[in-house]
Amino acid sequence: MWNERYAVDEYVYGSEPNLFLVEHAGMLSGPVLSLAEGEGRNGVFLASLGLKVHGVDGSDVGLAKAQALARSKGVEIQTEVADLGVFEPEANHYGSVISISAHLPSVIRQKLYPFVERCLKPGGIIVLEAYSEAQLIRNTGGPKDLDMLMTKAKIEREFPNCDPILLRELEREICEGTYHTGIASVVQFIGRKKA
Ligand SMILES: C[S@@+](CC[C@H](N)C(=O)[O-])C[C@H]1O[C@@H](n2cnc3c(N)ncnc32)[C@H](O)[C@@H]1O
Repeated sequence: MWNERYAVDEYVYGSEPNLFLVEHAGMLSGPVLSLAEGEGRNGVFLASLGLKVHGVDGSDVGLAKAQALARSKGVEIQTEVADLGVFEPEANHYGSVISISAHLPSVIRQKLYPFVERCLKPGGIIVLEAYSEAQLIRNTGGPKDLDMLMTKAKIEREFPNCDPILLRELEREICEGTYHTGIASVVQFIGRKKA
């Protein structure tokens, strides 16, 4: 499904980074693990700030576009095609993890998120924005599956080893290419791994 979606010349989520990430990028240190990197807009932005980026996604087509975007901006990112359902990042290695619109079923999150917490160095930061359950009734983007949509309670439960610096549900306008456009309900989370 994702390879089909990405098999067009345009960047379907745009080539500009996610705004929540832009607002908080100053908190990040490298290396940065980018979950579900897609076509590269977020990883390329972070690389342009001088951060080392490891972008993981299941779509080889998406990641080929990510590499093309990196080349066009004169930066380098490391990309890896992998299924996040079985992905095991190196422990105690990353300064930061980003998860932008990385909507995953709970059965995958339950396996992945403990590895995400484990892969951060103590004090490392996770930045996550996802559509919330309130988005289900909107037609402005995101999966039509409640299980893949987030809430503050899900975040608190699924990241027990990160102290929330920011955790909120809000409505905001999203203009990110063809598929994310309009007023949207999102969960935003910045967490710091406990020492
Ligand atoms: C909505 S796109 C977001 C892409 C990117 N984070 C962005 O903000 O532009 C969701 C991405 O999740 C990836 N994805 C979904 N399920 C996955 C899985 N199980 N393993 C790896 N990647 C997955 C898709 O390939 C797709 O690139």
